Amino acid sequence: MNAFFPRTFLKDCPVVESAAGVWLQDRDGKRYFDGSCGAIVTNLGHGNACINDAILKQLNKVAYAHTSQFWSEPALKLCEKLIELAPANFTGGRVFLTSGGSESVETALKMARGFFLERGESNRHQVISRRHSYHGATAGALSVTGHPARKRPYSPILKESNFIHSTYDYRCLCGDPSPTPCKKQSCALARANELEEAILELGPENVMAFLAEPISGAALGAVVPGDAYWPRIKEICTKYGVLLIADEVMVGLGRTGKVFAINHWHVEPDLIVLGKGLAAGYQPLGAVLAGPKVVDAFQKNSGIFEHGYTYSGHPVAAAAGLACLEFLARENLVERVAEMQTFFFSKLEELRKYEFVGDIRGRGLFAGIEFVEDKQSKKPFDAVHKFSKKISAAATANGVLIYPGSAFIDGVSGDHVLIAPPFIATKAELDEMFDRLDAAFSSVQTIQRS
Ligand SMILES: Cc1ncc(COP(=O)(O)O)c(C=O)c1O
Repeated sequence: MNAFFPRTFLKDCPVVESAAGVWLQDRDGKRYFDGSCGAIVTNLGHGNACINDAILKQLNKVAYAHTSQFWSEPALKLCEKLIELAPANFTGGRVFLTSGGSESVETALKMARGFFLERGESNRHQVISRRHSYHGATAGALSVTGHPARKRPYSPILKESNFIHSTYDYRCLCGDPSPTPCKKQSCALARANELEEAILELGPENVMAFLAEPISGAALGAVVPGDAYWPRIKEICTKYGVLLIADEVMVGLGRTGKVFAINHWHVEPDLIVLGKGLAAGYQPLGAVLAGPKVVDAFQKNSGIFEHGYTYSGHPVAAAAGLACLEFLARENLVERVAEMQTFFFSKLEELRKYEFVGDIRGRGLFAGIEFVEDKQSKKPFDAVHKFSKKISAAATANGVLIYPGSAFIDGVSGDHVLIAPPFIATKAELDEMFDRLDAAFSSVQTIQRS
């Protein structure tokens, strides 16, 4: 009897048996290269003895205490460490711990609302986010998500929200017909300026936050905005007193070659949202970083943030997160990711030989490949082909796991995969991953042609 309620009843997944380094193994003995770290989670690889030891040590001390009754040493240390890692405007700030990305996004939204209530700006409640985005599965986070396919079934129970276009160079709104991405800074600026238009339309006195992924993740496949984008977004938020929330759940903590992806543009957000890589899959853990501007509003007024989860600040999860941050620093992994970028993208470029590879984009060890039926016109595949799922299935068959995304262009069509190997992967291991990917792409091309 199988009593496990799966994500889909249309396929069975293998049962995982063990994992070490960049490899997972199922109970039939088949090995899989962890080419996307699950959903960009297991950044530090599997079976790390230091992290396991830290977890066991904490388990043997105390597994759980409610944060209304006790704080714990690992939680206090983890928060301190995160503030040290954050941009300068977070000095003197605080960190709210959660169990993952969706919880963190909900926390950030409520924190933003609480901030304005504490300051007597009770009209401020509107959130602006982007049409191509993913911020989580819970009702609040899904309401501000811009991914129609993921939202559609639940729209009657979601809140209406406000969206501007994302930057998307490959299919730039300027209509650039060339098969390569548009790199015009004027287009990046035009996308940023949409924020100002949206704020003015809603009335600045009603807007509390702009929420976005510094580099797009699951909803667009590793799109990196032009350099003019983030500084202009920051300028607009500052001008209208709107909080800037950076959703770094997928791209934070080293994935793009900087501790936070927003650091590529030297922009200081008001809140940073973390999950996934924070405890790298060793425990469920998320966090919201707040600078003193936000913290003081609570501390110096009501003193209360009316919010919390039973597992907020879980001592064992915090111990795992702390051990992950220590490992990241000890092994200079953020620098390593930045160094590996050239090799990683040169290997990715070799996949352009396939007729269905339309665009390759990303930063650090975070790449998106967008698939098209026709390279010249960038015509996407008809959704019935489920092309990204086909590629992903072929990759799995060849022993490499990648993360497919679909329906992102217009809510129906669009196929991409995310490739995001663990930070610890050696060049030889990456070579093996790309050999397997090449075999997978080749097998799909053969089927396409037949
Ligand atoms: C940018 C971003 N924010 C939030 C989330 C939600 O995180 P979780 O699935 O851990 O709740 C995700 C998950 O993919 C994400 O990519």
